Amino acid sequence: MHEQFPNSRLRRLRKHDFTRNLVAENRLSVNDLIYPMFVLEGENQKEMVPSMPGVERLSIDLLVKEAHLLVELGIPAIALFPVTPATAKSLHAEEAYNPQGLAQRAVRALKKAVPELGVITDVALDPFTSHGQDGLIDESGYVLNDETIEVLIKQALSHAEAGADIVAPSDMMDGRIGAIRQALEHNGYINTCILAYSAKYASAYYGPFRDAVGSSGNIKGGDKKSYQMDPANSDEAIREIALDLQEGADMVMVKPGMPYLDIVRRCKEECKVPTFAYQVSGEYAMHKAAFANGWLNEEQVILESLLAFKRAGADGILTYFAKQAAQLLDTKG
Ligand code: PBG
Repeated sequence: MHEQFPNSRLRRLRKHDFTRNLVAENRLSVNDLIYPMFVLEGENQKEMVPSMPGVERLSIDLLVKEAHLLVELGIPAIALFPVTPATAKSLHAEEAYNPQGLAQRAVRALKKAVPELGVITDVALDPFTSHGQDGLIDESGYVLNDETIEVLIKQALSHAEAGADIVAPSDMMDGRIGAIRQALEHNGYINTCILAYSAKYASAYYGPFRDAVGSSGNIKGGDKKSYQMDPANSDEAIREIALDLQEGADMVMVKPGMPYLDIVRRCKEECKVPTFAYQVSGEYAMHKAAFANGWLNEEQVILESLLAFKRAGADGILTYFAKQAAQLLDTKG
């Protein structure tokens, strides 16, 4: 009797570690990781974020301490988010461009103490507006585009002046990348990079972040749908990315991450540019909740979730797991 054998056995290469390693198409490295961090006023201050277990808001001195550890782990950069005291918030978000503001002071302290660690700052007004929107609003609560850009320019310049390596506009106003790029050039900051949050969706996954920076609950109008993208859209993301690149972005970002990996893939394939993705607070929170319940294996799932970003085409990943992942990569290779 003639036996029929398969021509190909894909399982052959899966049998041993060494063959699996030889043929792996993608790999996660510590160089892919950006750690988002929350900075607080005061000294020796540390606060937990209840909806983000394991994430702490730190005062500048503790932030700098932590930064040394991150460099030792090989993490290339952090993304900085200030927790603005309610008393410093206002209708016109003046605190956003205060040269002595929390973010600006944190950048200076970091660049002085740990110059090799890349510092990325968030350019958007939500931590500074009394109403929690990312821009200035009219009487109806509508976020004003061009008026907001004027403030974003001042904010970005104040970050560059403080020494930020990369400014990251996350506000989604039309035309802000071009305006910020021109302002940076005019003021001599020709090497300050712009990481544009180009495809930023109006997502419910940002909830825990808004707890962390204290902007939740008070968002006037309740949502950000008049400027952040509709989760239904994909072609529009490519248009946003193309515009930001034309306007002078060095790198682009897709946000949130895991539910939007199709956008990461399209961006990389169609635009061929440095592409970053943000595994946002809600993604972190749901993972942590499952870990805490023993429903998912923490170490395996962290590394698998981040590898999935690489497979989708991301060059780098902003993730609250950055430090933990770096430690895991250190021990597990
Ligand atoms: C605000 C900003 C947000 C995040 C980063 N920058 C929240 C928002 O748009 O409401 C979310 C990050 C996260 O959820 O981890 N400009």
